[in-house]
Amino acid sequence: MSNHSELMKFVKEYPDFPKPGITFRDVFPMFSDPQALQSLVDACVDIVSRGSRPDVILGVESRGFLLAPLIAYKLGIGFAPVRKVGKLPGRTACESYDLEYGQDSIEVQVDSFKPGQNVVVLDDLIATGGTLSATCKLAKKLGANVISCLTIVELKDLGGRAKIDAPVFSLITY
Ligand code: PRP
Ligand code: HPA
Repeated sequence: MSNHSELMKFVKEYPDFPKPGITFRDVFPMFSDPQALQSLVDACVDIVSRGSRPDVILGVESRGFLLAPLIAYKLGIGFAPVRKVGKLPGRTACESYDLEYGQDSIEVQVDSFKPGQNVVVLDDLIATGGTLSATCKLAKKLGANVISCLTIVELKDLGGRAKIDAPVFSLITY
């Protein structure tokens, strides 16, 4: 874990969004500032480059879709999407995870990567860790070697990283 304090000012906090009592951390200001966007991509590329070389970077809906392809482009590797259920055509595999109330599920196309390939999983934020943990399980179920998970923001007090059976890197922690 490293703290990229120069990026922290580009996370905007919205109290009581999307529900009363939740403070939403919005990373879009980091995308709209040209220098912050470059720093963000460079920091991610730097972290990923320190480990084994991935074959594919999996980006989680929806903000993972924006950042993962930028990193993939820089590294000269592929990108594949992990989506909420029912959005991806063709043969897919699914994994469910618990929410505060109820369950949610995520899906990936089974030909997104080959068994034995190295995969990095990327999302904008880790809160409870349900989404990333389910994504790692899903990738492993399909035979991937999950090298690491990477997020821009980590809400540390929620302890999400403990759910994940892979190294977790985050740029900014609260
Ligand atoms: C947010 C965030 C992560 C997830 C983190 O996505 O972008 O994907 O929640 O929470 P967790 O660690 O508790 O699982 P959200 O479900 O709001 O979906 P969206 O990106 O499609 O808006
Ligand atoms: N921002 C984005 N996604 C989230 C957040 C947040 O603050 N909390 C849980 N998921």
